Formats: sequence, structure tokens, C-alpha cells
Amino acid sequence: MNVSIAIDGPAGAGKSTMAKRVAEKLGYFYVDTGALYRTVGLHVMRNGVSPADEVSIKKLLRDLDISFYYAQDGTQRMSLNGEDVSDAIRTPDISHYASAVSALASVRAFLLDMQRNMANKHSVVMDGRDIGTVVLPNASVKLFLTAKAEERARRRWKELREKGGEYDYETVLTDLIGRDKADSERPIAPLKAAQDAVVLDTTDLDPEATLSEILRIIKERTG
Ligand code: DC
Repeated sequence: MNVSIAIDGPAGAGKSTMAKRVAEKLGYFYVDTGALYRTVGLHVMRNGVSPADEVSIKKLLRDLDISFYYAQDGTQRMSLNGEDVSDAIRTPDISHYASAVSALASVRAFLLDMQRNMANKHSVVMDGRDIGTVVLPNASVKLFLTAKAEERARRRWKELREKGGEYDYETVLTDLIGRDKADSERPIAPLKAAQDAVVLDTTDLDPEATLSEILRIIKERTG
């Protein structure tokens, strides 16, 4: 029997970092569903299609082959039609495109089976916005990670700066609040905590404390 751990929450709450570390610790497959939406967003942007043009996007989806794979150094990478796009999808522009295309029914349907298939084949730690509510409603453990917007923006800003490039904190904060609002207010699979999710506010927790609290909750729920 495969175990599935769902980690949802707004942008910059530390979902990916935590999901990756929990997956390593438990020997489960890590599925970053945001990376899937980002890859669709990148493809749409590169083809010069508006993220609101669902008819054209549906056509683009027909030739889209996206998958996770492991590089020689063991890191998980994202492939778009055979190209490693793991770094290309991590820009603020792509965050915007990903959020915009993620509101479309056809894009969500396209990615839904892929996500469920992964959870059928492996024990997974899956992070996103609708994992506990839509993708894996029967997940073994559901967590909703959140933190104050200012703190999430500070973390995101730091991460972007560490990768190089100049970013303005206020812009990062405004983008993050805008994206959360769009993700929460869309009609299909909006960002929200599942009724049976454990909500964890990490505003005042460092990564180590967050990880041990998550592992404690998983242990408590799975026995
Ligand atoms: O987790 P992230 O920031 O990489 O996600 C990018 C966007 O993708 C996010 O703003 C909304 C969308 N997304 C989604 O709608 N559902 C998911 N399960 C994961 C991401």
C-alpha cells in the first residue's frame, strides 16, 4: 500500500523545501506539482500565447511532453519535450504564467492524471495548492503550511537573490500577495486547506523546527 503525504499552502510557505526533505527522510517520491504548472506556463510563454487564451493553450497541450527525471547528481529535474527546464521555470515571470494557466480547466485536467498516476505507483510527498482537496482527497496525511505574507516574501526574496540578480522586496511581496489572491479565488481547485488538514503556521519557526513538527504529525497520523 502506497502512502501519500499532501502538503498544500500559499507561495513561499516552504512547502517544496519541506516536502523534499520529508521525502528524503521517508524514502518516498517527491512530486513538486508547482513545477508542472510552471512548465506549462513556460511553454505557453515561449509560444507567445496569452495565458488567458484557453483555445490556443489546449492545442499546445497536445504536443507537450513533461516529466520528472533524476540527474546524475541525484537531483530531481523537470523535462519539457526533452529539455531540462528546471532552472528556466524558477523566474518571477514564470510564477505569473504558472498561476494564470493553472486557473484553466483544460490545464488542470491535463495535469491531474499525471499527478494521480505518480501517487498510484509510488509512496509520495506531493506539494501544491489542491493536493489534499482535489488531487489526493484520500491522502494518508494532509498538511497546510502557511506563514505571514511578509515573512514568505522575505524568504522568497532571499532565495531569488541567492540565485543572483537584483530583486526588490516590495515587488516580491506584491507579486506574492497577488498570486495567492488569484490562486485562492479561482473557481476550479482553489488554494485552500482541506477540512482534514493539519494547518501549520511557520512564521516563527525555523526550517529545522518546521521539519521536526511535520515529521511528528506524519508519525502521529500514520502510526
Ligand atoms: O508552488 P509554485 O509556486 O511553484 O506554483 C506555481 C503556480 O502553480 C501557483 O501560483 C499556482 C499553480 N499551482 C496550482 O494551481 N496547483 C498546484 N497543485 C500547484 C501549483
